[in-house]
Amino acid sequence: MKRAEALRPLSREHLSALLVAKKLREAGDVEQVRAAFLDFWRDDGQHHFRIEEEVLLPTWAAHAEVDRAGVSRMLEEHLAVRRQALRLEAGDLSVEEVKELGTLLHDHVRFEERELFPIVEQALDAESLDRLAAAIEGAEHRQAEPG
Ligand SMILES: [Fe+2]
Repeated sequence: MKRAEALRPLSREHLSALLVAKKLREAGDVEQVRAAFLDFWRDDGQHHFRIEEEVLLPTWAAHAEVDRAGVSRMLEEHLAVRRQALRLEAGDLSVEEVKELGTLLHDHVRFEERELFPIVEQALDAESLDRLAAAIEGAEHRQAEPG
């Protein structure tokens, strides 16, 4: 199914997440990929998670019944990535754990793209998808503002 307009900004961001995930999975040592991951995480990754948690989920819940198992998995995986990002930043991850973070991030993106987003697209009617599109666009735009 073609990605709904509303979710396209998030899908575009998933492409850069997949590139970083590949680097992590193929890491020879921690320092080799640490900066690349942290650049991605500080510039885009954290903001992307926030939009999914603070805009996508509430808007979905406001207009339809959410898929509870899907929402749980998404939030659990967000927490797992956030935890390992924090540990990588502190220099606490082994190269094996860095590779596992790559697999986690990769599988998480695939889950959202192949399972969760299609459920959202089916659950919301055209008007709700329009509202979601405006809300996501607004949230994406706020990232660009200083402060
Ligand atoms: Fe995502």
